[in-house]
Amino acid sequence: MASGRVFKLNTDATIPATGLGTWQSKPGDAYKAVLTAIKTGYRHIDTALVYGNEKEVGAAIKDSGVPREQLFVTTKLWNNSHRPDLVSKALETSLANLQLNYLDLYLMHWPVSMAESKDLVPKDEDGNIIFDPTDFTETYAAMEKLPSDKVRAIGVSNFSVRNLKRLLKTAKIVPAVNQCELHPYLAQQKLHDFCNEQGIHMTAYSPLGSTDSPLMKDDTVAKIAKKYDASPAQILISWGIQRGTSVIPKSVTPSRIEENFKDVVLDQADFDKLNSLVTDSKRLIIPTAWNREEFLFGED
Ligand SMILES: NC(=O)c1ccc[n+]([C@@H]2O[C@H](COP(=O)([O-])OP(=O)(O)OC[C@H]3O[C@@H](n4cnc5c(N)ncnc54)[C@H](OP(=O)(O)O)[C@@H]3O)[C@@H](O)[C@H]2O)c1
Repeated sequence: MASGRVFKLNTDATIPATGLGTWQSKPGDAYKAVLTAIKTGYRHIDTALVYGNEKEVGAAIKDSGVPREQLFVTTKLWNNSHRPDLVSKALETSLANLQLNYLDLYLMHWPVSMAESKDLVPKDEDGNIIFDPTDFTETYAAMEKLPSDKVRAIGVSNFSVRNLKRLLKTAKIVPAVNQCELHPYLAQQKLHDFCNEQGIHMTAYSPLGSTDSPLMKDDTVAKIAKKYDASPAQILISWGIQRGTSVIPKSVTPSRIEENFKDVVLDQADFDKLNSLVTDSKRLIIPTAWNREEFLFGED
C-alpha cells in the first residue's frame, strides 16, 4: 500500500505521514533523492540549514514540476542564529536557498544557542564551542513573529518534556511539531504522551535507527517483516505511523526511497511486540559537543 496517510497539525494544516529525510545526503545525492522521492509520490521533504543541502533540495523541488501547494517542506533554524535579531535573516537565507516563498514548517533545530558566526559551530582557540546566552524561549518568541505568509507553522526539535514545559510558559503559539529521535528502541512514550496532550504533533527522526542501524538486524523486526512480506525498514516506518507520528526516513538509494513509501498496517500483537523492544539506552543521535549537563534530554 502506498502511504497516503496524513496527520492534522494544530494549525489545521496536514502533514504527510512519510517524508524524505536529507541529513548526510552527500552533495549531488540530495538533489537526486528528492527528485526520486517526489516522483515516487512523497509530498513531504525534511531538510535543515546545517545539512548544507537546502539549495539542492530546492532545485529538485523546482525541477519536479509538482505544484508548491502540494508539497510540505520543513527546514530548521540553526543554533548560531538563535539571537532574536538573527531569526528573520536566517529564515530569508533558507527561503532563498530553497527558492521558495514560504515554508510549511520552520523548526528550532536544538534548544541550544551558539554565538553568531560564519562557522556553523563556532569555537574558541581551545576548540570549545562558543555558546550564546539567548534562551530558547526568546528565540521561539522571535519565531512567533515571523510572517505567517512565509512560515505556515513553527515548531521545535529535540525538546524534552522539561524544556517543552518551560517553553509553553511563555509561548503564545503552541509549537505545531516537536521533531525527535523516535524508533522502537527509543519510543519516548512520556514525551509522546505529553506532546499529544498539548496538541503538538511529533515527527520521528532516525525512524530506521540512522546510519548502520542496529534495528535493521533486530530479530523481532526481521520476523515481523517476514510475516508481512515487507522489509525491516517498512516495518519500522509502519510502526512509527501507526503510533501517530510522521516519519522522515532518509535514503539516497532509489529502490529504498520507493520501498520506504510503502507502509503496512500492523496487527495489534505485532505493534505491541515492537513496543516491547524499547530500551532506555538506545539513543543513537547524541550531540555530545553541546549536550551540557543533561540539559537536552535529562528527566525524559
Ligand atoms: N531534528 C534533528 O535533530 C534530526 C536529527 C537526525 C535526523 N533528522 C532528520 O531525520 C532524517 C532521518 O534520520 P537519519 O538520516 O538519521 O536516519 P534514518 O532515516 O533512520 O536512516 C538512514 C539510513 O538508513 C539507510 N536506509 C534507508 N532506507 C533503507 C532501507 N529501506 N533499507 C535499508 N537501509 C535503509 C540509509 O542508507 P542510504 O541513504 O544509503 O540508502 C541511511 O544509512 C534525517 O535525514 C533528517 O532529515 C533530524
